[in-house]
Amino acid sequence: MAWEDILEEYRKRKETILLGGGKEKLQKIKDSGKLTARERINYFLDENSFVEIGAFVEHRATALGMEKTKAPSDGVVTGFGTVGGRLVFVASQDFSVLGGSVGEMHAAKIARIQDMALQYKAPVIIMNDSGGARIQEGVDSLKGYGDIFYRNVKSSGVVPQISVVFGPCAGGAVYSPALMDFVFMTKNAYMFITGPKVVETVTGEKVTNEQLGGPLVHAEKAGNIHFVADSDEEALDLVRELLSYLPNSAFEKPLYMDPNDEPTRLVPELEDIIPAEPNKAFDIRKVINAVMDDGRFMEVQSDFAKSVVTGFGRLGGHVVGIVANQSSFMAGVLDIDSSDKAARFVRTCNAFNIPILTFVDTPGYMPGTGQEYGGIIRHGAKLLYAYSEAEVPKITLIVRKAFGGAYIAMGSKHLGADLVFALPSAQVAVMEAAGAANIVFKKEIESSPNPEEVRASKISEYNKEFMNPYVAASRLYVDDIVEPQFVRIALFNALELTLTKKNSVGVKHGNIPL
Ligand code: HXC
Repeated sequence: MAWEDILEEYRKRKETILLGGGKEKLQKIKDSGKLTARERINYFLDENSFVEIGAFVEHRATALGMEKTKAPSDGVVTGFGTVGGRLVFVASQDFSVLGGSVGEMHAAKIARIQDMALQYKAPVIIMNDSGGARIQEGVDSLKGYGDIFYRNVKSSGVVPQISVVFGPCAGGAVYSPALMDFVFMTKNAYMFITGPKVVETVTGEKVTNEQLGGPLVHAEKAGNIHFVADSDEEALDLVRELLSYLPNSAFEKPLYMDPNDEPTRLVPELEDIIPAEPNKAFDIRKVINAVMDDGRFMEVQSDFAKSVVTGFGRLGGHVVGIVANQSSFMAGVLDIDSSDKAARFVRTCNAFNIPILTFVDTPGYMPGTGQEYGGIIRHGAKLLYAYSEAEVPKITLIVRKAFGGAYIAMGSKHLGADLVFALPSAQVAVMEAAGAANIVFKKEIESSPNPEEVRASKISEYNKEFMNPYVAASRLYVDDIVEPQFVRIALFNALELTLTKKNSVGVKHGNIPL
């Protein structure tokens, strides 16, 4: 046999593999405005960096006609490559091959990539586009899913895990994304435990794929995902951006980037952004933008539980995770969903050695039967737990309101914050003045011939005594009170100090979905 023959055989096989489910099916995917599984990998990774693993894998199924069915690469493209020069592991399900369904060998390929990511300590990105468990492979397919979930959990808090859902993701398949750190969805994707047909059979409810599990449902209502993208390309661009804020593993710090933006830059514009009146709403993201390097802030879960804002930025070149109350949405209250959102984000930062900057402006935990019956006590406790547990640098700025339990929960000194600053506009108190006066001076107000006058004077007395940062600062609960224009300098200097804290890298805990 000559080289020519050997190579001809090889090239023929390779060509079939690269064609996945065939030209027609690939064309159908492209016509729907999507990228194919291989195009997604090529678009995502640095040019010429992809090394494929398992291209020649074949299924071993024989039931239901599978003995005659070819499934190139068993419907998933796997391997490793680089993003911005940094190692990542990838798996991209190929919908053109048996609907990207997960059979025994398909799952084994994904599991292999997960094992390698753990071994070489690099992020794993799974691109989902699949009809779920391969029906023809029965329990072998379920075993495969179990293997993937198990590795999702074992990798949790060790290497970043990112899921990008481009197409269907149904049934138990949803639990791999749910176990990962960040989930992206494109506008074309949908994700649910049971599809519309089953829903109608069981409950009589009629819904479309989109109403049941489209990206907006998950981003706004369910809080299952972190980012929505208009196209495949945009989703992958966002993943690249997100990776720039994450270390390759819990054993590394996130990437420092030389800032173009002077750390000592003054931010006098904060006086225009933050109203002096405590009850006037404003967009805390404007404060974050003003303080971060180059005004850049990558918001995470921007559409869910909007009374808390979470996301990543850089301060003096160092990555920071930001948690902030948003007064323009439900006054910045902590409710069930915003407690979960903030607690999960704090734990994600702690797992990956990302310092936490907290901006406080909250009237407290949300009252009412809806919240109490829903378990605000249990959910709110997660935030106290997450902040107390976090070992990364924790720096807090009290912007305006810091009342009651929410004051404690939002990165207070008492939960181990390294440094706490306050603006002169801060109000650190058990509760707001009107409520406090009504309770403390109830008898005096009621027995007075002029109850309204007495109430007003008591409120004013309480405001003067307690609604400021000076009492907290006099006890060292607040380390310093800074003028708005000096906020960036103060936070940067605090960050530089606290980055020298010991035991800053290493596995701290898994990143359980909360
Ligand atoms: C085998 C599958 C498949 C599956 C799709 N295909 N899903 N093959 N097992 N689960 C095949 C189809 O037969 C078809 O093959 C090709 O993929 C494309 O599918 P279409 O139906 O033509 O595409 P479309 O109209 O776009 O619909 C996509 C779909 C639909 C909505 C995903 O295929 C579907 O409902 N599939 C079943 C979804 C499901 O119930 N999965 C099991 C969930 S339970 P041909 O040869 O015609 O091109 C589960 C348990 C996991 O996943 C448990 C883990 C713990």
